[in-house]
Amino acid sequence: MNPPTRSRSILIAGNWKMNSSLQETEKFFSEFKNYTDRVFNDQEISHLKSQALQACIFPSFTSLLKAPLPLSFPVHIGAQNAHWEKKGSFTGEISGPMLKEVGIQWVLVGHSERRQFFGETNLTVQKRTESLLKQGFHVILCIGESREERESGKTKEILSQQIQSIPDISAISDPHLILAYEPVWAIGTGVAASQEQIIETHQNIRCLLSEKIGANLAETTPLLYGGSVTPDNITSLLQCPHVDGALVGGASLQPESFASLLRAGSKSLLFS
Ligand code: 13P
Repeated sequence: MNPPTRSRSILIAGNWKMNSSLQETEKFFSEFKNYTDRVFNDQEISHLKSQALQACIFPSFTSLLKAPLPLSFPVHIGAQNAHWEKKGSFTGEISGPMLKEVGIQWVLVGHSERRQFFGETNLTVQKRTESLLKQGFHVILCIGESREERESGKTKEILSQQIQSIPDISAISDPHLILAYEPVWAIGTGVAASQEQIIETHQNIRCLLSEKIGANLAETTPLLYGGSVTPDNITSLLQCPHVDGALVGGASLQPESFASLLRAGSKSLLFS
């Protein structure tokens, strides 16, 4: 495996889960605009404009249309889930074409909360990922082990099974696949994985990915870390090899906090 390079951009993505109403989303972006207009320096704006640093927010479905205000840099907006079929009798689901119609190009797939609480399996994750990649979406596919799985030494086995559920993307032209490693035990607990755990696990993921989709595609696929990421720990997380950004829950809900995460992402570009 080649040593990691910063040929991949940094992505800071906020997963708002079932938080923030439409009104709160509008307030977030209004405050985010005011704040970033005031505090972001030229370097930070330039990283965001050039997309060396990418920002993405996954709000609730009802907020998709309203986010974001015009900002001085792009912020991608994504959906937290989407079905593999384009239409049909699938109550409670939303389709790729419906999202595209309102300008959405990013989708989160296989989050552990969907796996834990809504019966998402590796098979349904595979179907969603394949269909959405074929439709041209940027897909962030979430993987990660539970505490019991880590403590019983099964982390690599579980990740391998989850990575096996990545569809055959060799036939898809320009697939925009992103993997997010989110250990379930680190989500919402305030205890992020340690640098050592992240370094070891991301290295393993890059290797497993290489076996699954080939070295070239694996090398260009961004790997995010998620689980209790905050403005205080993101700098050390972004220093880990094979970490190309973060998927952030709680700390992405406040404008100043999300802006701080982006500033850390911009700084990390200067040292890589
Ligand atoms: P927290 O950052 O709140 O731990 O959530 C992580 C997460 O689940 C992002 O998808």
